[in-house]
Amino acid sequence: MSSSSATPVPGNAGWGVSGNSREAWLKRNFPTVEDLRRRAQRRVPSLGYDTVAGGTGSDLAVLRNAAALDAIQIVPRYGVDRDEISTEVTLFGRSYAAPVGIAPMGLQGVMWPGAERHLARAAQQARIPYTAGTVSGVALEELAALAPDVVWFQLYRLAANDHAVGIDLVRRAKDAGVHVLVLTLDTPSRAKRPRELRNGLVLPFRPSLRTMLQVTMCPGWLWALATQGRPGFPTLARYAGQNASKRDIAGFAQREVRGGFTWQEVARYRDLWKGPLVVKGVMHPADAEIAVSLGVDGVQVSNHGGRQFEAAPAAIDVVPAVAAAVGRRATVLFDGGVRSGLDLMRARAAGADAALAGRTFLYGVAALGDGGADYVTQLLIEELRVAMRQAGAHALPDIASLVVRHPGAMQDWPAPPALARAESGR
Ligand SMILES: Cc1cc2nc3c(=O)[nH]c(=O)nc-3n(C[C@H](O)[C@H](O)[C@H](O)COP(=O)(O)O)c2cc1C
Repeated sequence: MSSSSATPVPGNAGWGVSGNSREAWLKRNFPTVEDLRRRAQRRVPSLGYDTVAGGTGSDLAVLRNAAALDAIQIVPRYGVDRDEISTEVTLFGRSYAAPVGIAPMGLQGVMWPGAERHLARAAQQARIPYTAGTVSGVALEELAALAPDVVWFQLYRLAANDHAVGIDLVRRAKDAGVHVLVLTLDTPSRAKRPRELRNGLVLPFRPSLRTMLQVTMCPGWLWALATQGRPGFPTLARYAGQNASKRDIAGFAQREVRGGFTWQEVARYRDLWKGPLVVKGVMHPADAEIAVSLGVDGVQVSNHGGRQFEAAPAAIDVVPAVAAAVGRRATVLFDGGVRSGLDLMRARAAGADAALAGRTFLYGVAALGDGGADYVTQLLIEELRVAMRQAGAHALPDIASLVVRHPGAMQDWPAPPALARAESGR
């Protein structure tokens, strides 16, 4: 055999980067989500980019989420045939192509006007869950029509008039064919997000001269704005009064979307919603326990992508304890910091049934426009397949039997005193 290797080197060749197709171009130029993030940052005014990329305070919890995932190590097993790999997962009785879904995100339109449509279409196409949000920039019914087989709906607390709006939204979700209802718990107060404040993203919105100038330097973003329209809160429009302007609707959203659901309210929505119910923002195994006792079908471990409470641990670091508390009684979802298919594997290794990602998908849309969300989905699933093949897992359940080092996993959980006080009525 000659020493010069005529055989293609396994590895990068397997990523399909040869040839001149658009796919090969994408894979060469954007081999990772980080490459997409960088391009997104260049194409979007800082008003939009900072709003999405940032978190509360100094972004420490955002950084913590990613660092904690990076720290997880998985010991590979070799010597087995790895041809057949399946990433299929069943969640709430439906089967999906991979253990990854799109997390709910309001304000996406500032990152890329109309991003929701790209994400919903891509999720339907790839057969992964898509979570429409109460404050999405595209109406619930339109998103449900774009993603009929995979749509979930995230509800924020709208408690005025004995939850009249919240209850109506649940009815609309059912009529629109939503499969899973997700109640967000982790927004008891408005978070201080300095990056948004510095960019003037406060209501009423009055863009500064700097913002206007930046916008003129982002032609792709401007085109998306021209074709998709100004971001707003269309799902809430009908509740803001007849002929309400976009500004009135934004004011309504800011006034009425308040607080995180209490357990009493979760119990009430459990009665109302007959389909699968998830509570999002669970960080303590004792809270997971309460959720399960109320009959929820899933708990979504999340620190809101580091946007609410800066001292919160990385969401992945509490997954093992929550998964242990919940056992087989409910599905465990996780989000916060997912940037690769390997992160999906890490989430499974930590005990989650599936992970959701937020920013990662938006970076794809802002970097590439149409097709960006499809590309991210493809990238994540391909990376997961390669990671599984590398580690010796044929199917997702095999991941649980691998040896994992999770240095940040929180292990000491003393009985929570605040809860004990509430129970004893003091
Ligand atoms: C711009 C933005 C808006 C968000 N809006 C919502 C929302 O309306 N409702 C909600 O429950 N979570 C919201 N989240 C949190 C996400 O659902 C998810 O928990 C988080 O993005 C996961 O972290 P990741 O972005 O690092 O993947 C938002 C996150 C971002 C980045």
